[in-house]
Amino acid sequence: MNLVYLTSPKGGVGRTTLTANLAYALQRLGHQVVVLDLDVQNTLRLHMGLAVGEHRGVVAQSQHNSDWREHIIETPSGVGLLPYGQATRAQREGFNALLRQEPDFLELRLGSLLHQPGCVTLVDLPSGPSSGLDAVKRMAGLGIVVMMADGSSAATLPLVAQENYLGADVAQRALYVINQVYIRSRLNRDCTEFFEQRLGAALLGRVHRDEAVPEATASKQSIFEYAPTSAVIQDLEDIARSISRALPDAYGHDSMKFSLR
Ligand SMILES: Nc1ncnc2c1ncn2[C@@H]1O[C@H](COP(=O)(O)OP(=O)(O)O)[C@@H](O)[C@H]1O
Ligand SMILES: [Mg+2]
Repeated sequence: MNLVYLTSPKGGVGRTTLTANLAYALQRLGHQVVVLDLDVQNTLRLHMGLAVGEHRGVVAQSQHNSDWREHIIETPSGVGLLPYGQATRAQREGFNALLRQEPDFLELRLGSLLHQPGCVTLVDLPSGPSSGLDAVKRMAGLGIVVMMADGSSAATLPLVAQENYLGADVAQRALYVINQVYIRSRLNRDCTEFFEQRLGAALLGRVHRDEAVPEATASKQSIFEYAPTSAVIQDLEDIARSISRALPDAYGHDSMKFSLR
């Protein structure tokens, strides 16, 4: 299925930022992209140029509806967004129960989005184990674990394979992105090297640290518009191409294959 989830053992490492920026990068490769927010923080909408007061979302609306395609909000960039929404505690608990009890819950809601040629769905998750992660991890074409190039992120690497998180079998197939690489910091360089050695071929890519990344979010622009010369652009393009290659069904029509390196 053309579904990619982004997870991380530690919070604040850049999952949501990366979900949004990879959505833009995949769109520039010619994919139709939908992003789904399964984190109660509901912040993905702010990275996609929506207003703070935008409270709609799948958790508040999903119980009564079997098809989420009609809830997709078209963002200014053209990327489709399924926000978590501003949910009550009862709605959040009900949603988590549905995710746990109905193994096909997400597949039924997302329907043809998961199989449409050329279309990629990216799922932003909370950090660590969650009902959302359990629901997506076995149906996804690709799982991405985001690690920040710092000591405490490095210390959380062994958690990924634990049974209550990804589990050894799923962890073996997941690929990793190191975020906020900053070569002027010795500690950051050492941590990046540690990840490179440990992860080997499971390393999908690196993304540099650049103040332009939070600035772009604050100014409601994609990094591609806000800082077209940032090193982060090349990083994102490289990762997006690898994602596109890893999802053979998402390749779509021949003209799109042609545009991929
Ligand atoms: N490559 C980067 N360079 C600079 N700042 C970044 C980068 N990636 C993420 N950030 C910043 O790190 C903070 C946490 O990012 P966020 O995406 O909210 O993390 P998470 O979703 O993992 O909790 C945000 O302020 C974001 O702007
Ligand atoms: Mg987040």
